[in-house]
This record gives sequence, C-alpha cells and structure tokens, in this order.
Amino acid sequence: MDKARTAALEALYADIHRCTRCPLHAGRANAVPGAGPLDADIMFIGEAPGFHEDQQGIPFVGAAGQYLSELLAGIGIDRKRVYISNVIKCRPPGNRDPLDEEVTACKPYLDQQMELIRPKVVVTLGRHSMTRAFPNEKISLVHGQARRVDTVIYFPMYHPAAALHRPSLKADVEADFLRLRELLDGKWEAEVYQAPPEAEQLSLF
Ligand code: URA
Repeated sequence: MDKARTAALEALYADIHRCTRCPLHAGRANAVPGAGPLDADIMFIGEAPGFHEDQQGIPFVGAAGQYLSELLAGIGIDRKRVYISNVIKCRPPGNRDPLDEEVTACKPYLDQQMELIRPKVVVTLGRHSMTRAFPNEKISLVHGQARRVDTVIYFPMYHPAAALHRPSLKADVEADFLRLRELLDGKWEAEVYQAPPEAEQLSLF
C-alpha cells in the first residue's frame, strides 16, 4: 500500500517538474513540488518558492526556511519528520503574490499531496495558504486557532517571512508554535469548524 502511495507521490513530483499549466513554468529554474516523508503527521503549506527554492527545487531553504527550521526545533520537531509544500510550485517573478489563476492551475497538485500524505494537522503559513482553506477570513484574527474538519486539524499561522520583515509579528509566530506544541501534546483541542453558510465549496476539504 505504502509502495503504491510512494510511487504515486513520485509520479506526482514528475508531473509537477514537467508542468506547463500556467506561465510561471517559463521562468523557473526548478519546480518545487514539496519535501518530507509520506507518513508525516503534520503538513506545512507555504505560499510559493522564492529565489533559493527555485534554484534548489526544495521548499523553504532560504531565510524563511531557516527560521521555520528553528521554530520547529524550538518545539522539539525535527524538520525531516514534517511534510512541507506550497500553494503554488513555481516561483512568481520577483516573488510577487501568486495570481488567482496560478493558484487554480496548481490546486490539483496540492489536493493530491493532501490525499497521499493524509496529514493529521495542516499548518497554513501566511494569507495565501490560509485562504485556500478559509476564504474570507483575516489571518490577524484566526492565526493560532485550530479548526477540525472531519479528521483533519487546520492551524493557520503567519508566514515566517512576514515575521522576518515585520519583527513585531515574531512574538505571535513564536507563541503560535508553542500553541501548536501544546495542541500536539493534547493540552487543548481544536474546535469543530462550521463553515459559514455563504462559504463556497472549500478547497482543502
Ligand atoms: N516562502 C514560501 O512560502 N515557500 C517557500 O518554499 C519559501 C519561502
């Protein structure tokens, strides 16, 4: 079974490396599918590859990635044990925000990653990632809250890069990591998420 899932994940990575679904493919050095073990319990979803990620084909290897590794180590989690991906798999020029059509074109890849990894906890990093799960919400209001949808817990956080640019956010980011540790240790529980009636079909679940 795991052999089949491993093969499916490898096939998905190959598809992403060959992808031409949106114009970002033309400017990439490498697509950045994701990294981490198939049996990871926690999946982190960032925004998009930056310069270093594009160069290396690996997510979160630049300054934000270094900070993410430190935050994980600070709560006793080895980065190698978590799965890390992004909403879009190719670098937008000049690190601009992803466009809606890029997010839409890339969505099937993230959906398949979710299906194959089957994480227990999904940590969304930043507004673009949070919006996929919880459209119409403000990250400043929902960061650090855990919401359960069926068996999966979603935990929105600020993007680590935001905290590097705005040091006033660092305390929130670090407090949210401590809350994540306590959530994993069963010290508090996620609320069951009730989608507001006007919500469209939510994309991550
Ligand atoms: N920022 C992201 O959102 N993703 C990366 O992979 C690197 C930086």
